[in-house]
Amino acid sequence: MPSDLPKSDPMHFDDVVKGRRSIRGYKPDPVPRDLIEEVLALAMRAPSSMNTQPYNFTVLTGEPLDRIRAGNTEKMLAGVPESREFRSGTGFEGAHRERQIGVAKQLFGAMGIERDDKARRQDWVMRGFRQFDAPVCIIITFDRTLEGWDDPIFDCGAVTTMLVNAAWSRGLGAVINSQGIMQSPVVREHAGIPDDQVIMKAVALGWPDDNFPANAVVSERKDVAEASRFLGFAE
Ligand SMILES: Cc1cc2nc3c(=O)[nH]c(=O)nc-3n(C[C@H](O)[C@H](O)[C@H](O)COP(=O)(O)O)c2cc1C
Repeated sequence: MPSDLPKSDPMHFDDVVKGRRSIRGYKPDPVPRDLIEEVLALAMRAPSSMNTQPYNFTVLTGEPLDRIRAGNTEKMLAGVPESREFRSGTGFEGAHRERQIGVAKQLFGAMGIERDDKARRQDWVMRGFRQFDAPVCIIITFDRTLEGWDDPIFDCGAVTTMLVNAAWSRGLGAVINSQGIMQSPVVREHAGIPDDQVIMKAVALGWPDDNFPANAVVSERKDVAEASRFLGFAE
């Protein structure tokens, strides 16, 4: 085991993976910087293409994060079109759309937000642009020299998944989100992200508020049988 990894008593792997949920309501308490560094060190054990480790993290709290929340809110309310630094499609269809609606129904149901309650639905969406009022936000970027390759995007996904699980193993909650980077120029300006980095995703991070109903939502998964094909195995 690399010497810079924490040696504290870890949770069992299965408990972390099965227990982790996206957390969208936080206590205001700060998160110590050394704990975030511990979580990042664990996350960075993720595999990456040819061990290139193309990802970087900008960890924000306090005033710079508040400026991003305010900038995102202002732009989204003003109807400024989304501005991301990676390709995205026009919308989900079929099974993907059904799953998207499925988790939205679970979240709105938990929060008691009715289908026709436009004001509360809008509030919920704006919450995402404020990074769910979390005390910390981590912006995931990757080295622009690799722009155009799909591997660094895959590697960002791997390290970010490790990050949210590592956070959970330390009692922290997180939610990977696109909402935080939908106005990427705002993030680039207030987080001082240099031009040699491509902005990929945001992760809100903090201590879960156990009284926030949406935090209890356990999202569904398709079956292994639906996702997998096994070839050459004995019946
Ligand atoms: C790439 C990516 C983007 C996401 N963007 C958002 C987002 O913008 N807002 C949000 O509330 N959740 C977002 N999520 C969280 C997903 O909705 C969540 O992971 C999924 O519904 C499964 O739920 P779970 O994380 O609780 O298991 C995102 C997750 C990923 C991996």
